[in-house]
Amino acid sequence: MDILDKLEQYCNSDYVPMHMPGGKRNPEYSSTSILDITEIDGFDNMHNPEGIIKNAFERAARLYGADETLFLVNGSTSGILAAICGAVRKHDKVAVARNCHVSVYNALLLAELEPVYIIPDIDHKTGIYKGITYEDVKKCVHENTDIKAVIITSPTYEGIVSETRHIAEYLHSKGIILIVDEAHGAHFKFNSEFPESAVDAGADLVINSIHKTLPALTQTALLHISKKNVDVDRVERYWNIYQTTSPSYILMASIDRCIGIIEENGKELFEKYICSLKLLRQKLGQLNNISLLDSDDISKIILLCDNGKILYDRLLNEFRIQPEMASFKYVICMTSVADKQEYYDRLLQALEYIDSTWESHDVVTLDKNIYINNAPDMRMTPSQAMELMNEQGCDEIDVCDDSIYGRVSASTVLIYPPGMPVINIGEVITQKAAYTIRNAIRTGLEVPGLKEGRIQCLR
Ligand SMILES: Cc1ncc(COP(=O)(O)O)c(C=O)c1O
Repeated sequence: MDILDKLEQYCNSDYVPMHMPGGKRNPEYSSTSILDITEIDGFDNMHNPEGIIKNAFERAARLYGADETLFLVNGSTSGILAAICGAVRKHDKVAVARNCHVSVYNALLLAELEPVYIIPDIDHKTGIYKGITYEDVKKCVHENTDIKAVIITSPTYEGIVSETRHIAEYLHSKGIILIVDEAHGAHFKFNSEFPESAVDAGADLVINSIHKTLPALTQTALLHISKKNVDVDRVERYWNIYQTTSPSYILMASIDRCIGIIEENGKELFEKYICSLKLLRQKLGQLNNISLLDSDDISKIILLCDNGKILYDRLLNEFRIQPEMASFKYVICMTSVADKQEYYDRLLQALEYIDSTWESHDVVTLDKNIYINNAPDMRMTPSQAMELMNEQGCDEIDVCDDSIYGRVSASTVLIYPPGMPVINIGEVITQKAAYTIRNAIRTGLEVPGLKEGRIQCLR
């Protein structure tokens, strides 16, 4: 019996809920609270799993081919924090792909780490980062022989993967741990049309947001641990720290049910999905003004055009199709095994119409300066900068004011999505970084980290 079956069985019984949560499984208050329980008899404890939850962890590990798999109810964010804090010691040096998610940057702060950045190449036409290569990692390790772990994001939001297998083999020959943020690749394992999964490629710690690309509720994710090179107890300790002590049974049941569905019917479901996807991609490939990126992950529909925001708005406002996100030069539509054929039909029809009526737009041109693709000038580690800010405060300066050039940032400024820092705390604000930020604001992208258009600078 999986967690959801047991929950449903319990909820159909006449037990009186003299326990948390306060919704008391009473549908008068919320129809979604019916299955909401806490660690009552027979339901195990996620922080000390011995029964139904332990079985669920083991089933997930089997499905992914991992030595050990832990459920995450605070998203991949919590798994990334646990993996990084558990894999290295305070003040260690770690190599970080610059296009990592903000949660990796937060782990650097929490564990007071010294990052060195691996800057992925960028496609200047689209502004899309390429994968991290084995050569990138080798060069970084040669220059920094004291690195303890390497952290990469593979796939990226746009479905671009890194040379994970080659990188893992190389790092293991040097005794270095490889952590892969595979938040967007939880589905890779389930069909050979997708890239190799990071667990299969030999990464030591892998984090999957199953809520992103598999049928599971928001916040659900998995942390896979390979026991060869990692201190499992340490990772588990941090996993405990970064998970709520009141994990939602609805979320855990959702993970478990998702794993069960794939275990039982994954082969057929994914074959059908791949067929529909390939057909959709083939038709989208025939458009004239909008082109389809040949992404490593075919589940990601990346629509390239001369103004991503306009394409996004037209899909939404004229056709009631809600894309995942817009960037300067593209729109991301995400697909999954749970899609209905109707979604693809409507998307295709809409895009055929938009394509036939598309006018070229006078847009912000993407030149070589628009994205940060050189090593940031890090004056101090993120945690040292935080410390300094706590002691001395900071100045808040308009990001359009040229006097910010050369100042050390006390902010982490991102372009969202995908939530990747343009400038991190402790780094010098270059003209290039300021230009990227201003450009993102002008294009209508979200730029968290600024306070009403002002950037915090260390004194
Ligand atoms: C590459 C990447 N890593 C990690 C995360 C964090 O995932 P979660 O939302 O599951 O915490 C995201 C979220 O967007 C992401 O895009």
